[in-house]
Amino acid sequence: MDQALAKFSESISFDHRLYRHDIRGSIAHATMLCRQGMLTEEELRKIIDELRVIEGKLDRKELPFRIELEDIHMHIEQSLIDTLGDTGRKLHTARSRNDQVATDLRLWVRDALDQVDGLLEALQRAFVERCDHDAEIILPAYTHMQRAQPVLAPHYWLAYVEKLERDRSRIADCRRRVNVCPLGGAAVAGTSLPIDRALTAELLEFEKVAANSIDISSDRDFAIESVFVLSMIAIHLSGWAEEWILWSTTEFGFIKLPQAYCTGSSIMPQKVNPDTLELTRGKTGRVVGALQTLMMLMKGLPLAYNRDMQEDKPPLFDAFDTVQACLQLAIPIVQGSQLQPAAIKLRLDQGYLDATALMEAIMQMGMPQRTAHHKVGALVALAKSKAVTLGELTDEDFSSVEPSFVGGTLRARLGVEGAVASYQSLGSSRPELVRAQVAAWKQKLARS
Ligand code: ARG
Repeated sequence: MDQALAKFSESISFDHRLYRHDIRGSIAHATMLCRQGMLTEEELRKIIDELRVIEGKLDRKELPFRIELEDIHMHIEQSLIDTLGDTGRKLHTARSRNDQVATDLRLWVRDALDQVDGLLEALQRAFVERCDHDAEIILPAYTHMQRAQPVLAPHYWLAYVEKLERDRSRIADCRRRVNVCPLGGAAVAGTSLPIDRALTAELLEFEKVAANSIDISSDRDFAIESVFVLSMIAIHLSGWAEEWILWSTTEFGFIKLPQAYCTGSSIMPQKVNPDTLELTRGKTGRVVGALQTLMMLMKGLPLAYNRDMQEDKPPLFDAFDTVQACLQLAIPIVQGSQLQPAAIKLRLDQGYLDATALMEAIMQMGMPQRTAHHKVGALVALAKSKAVTLGELTDEDFSSVEPSFVGGTLRARLGVEGAVASYQSLGSSRPELVRAQVAAWKQKLARS
């Protein structure tokens, strides 16, 4: 082989990460071969012992990589043959690297999904644990990035918990399609040898045996799907990161981020930069880019295995590494950031956040919504011209807009506390409802 081709086609430089899963797959395969009479007990014992030795060497980075051996599968098999001779040469019975790599990758993705799920749960817990501490704090909720209506801080935190819960349910759903055993598909058509595919699947804790030997090694849709799930997580994290970057500016001053996750400026001594959040926002591009790379990689591939598919690993690994790193840092930031109630209060008192509550109070007096909207608009304009809050308008101000308005009654619904207390609907910021949701999440996330 030409050296340039050897270098071009090797994958050991990145697929070495599959070694534990490759060895696990080989042990299951060898165990099945022995049960089916294709290896003796003695040969099986030797193969398993030697695979463990190789695994130890790989753990300690003692197995030298050689590009002529192409990939992790060949490195492990060659090392086995170097020690065991003909016994080692029997391991690849009724197996091809095509079903082998598909198996390794499914095992790897399954583990990685479980790790991401654990991190998502920890991040949910971090948000829920903030809820008691911030229970009394009211935040302005925004639409169009304009202050809109007052909400309780725990209501805000639970909005993120809900998003993360959907991410977790996507993981669970994707995992079902990942958790299917390709082993035994061999190169493409199956094999004439008497293998027991159900046994290998069981040993590897796969839920099902893949039904079609041609399909098995031809697709990476499970990898694409898992990277979509990761992309959605990254997009959720980037929205949160952007929000807290804004909130930590002097302009907002709503939140103080933990120092350990910020950096200073080399030239401006007063600065604390939210680098972790900025990088979290930025790395979303990498994850979504990996999704694009994988989809383009698979576009237009005829059945079945094609070497193109070797290119699946760098984007797949990078997407998982990136999202895991982002989640690992998001957790202590959520735990360690502090809301700044004084600065928040200042903004709550400006911008007439209780206008909608006032409008709804007027509608409860029997006025149609469009009319009430118009009347409150007039009250807001009046308050603005007098540079006062809605609550500071006099009884005469109220009746000047509409003779039936009784200032005293309406004033009870004003101010952000009045507005929050008036919410009724399911899913709203009504304090009892929010407390019940916090309790439900605590119970759901309680460590078993
Ligand atoms: N390194 C290859 C990959 O990752 C393994 C499968 C190679 N199969 C083959 N028939 N050349 O896809």
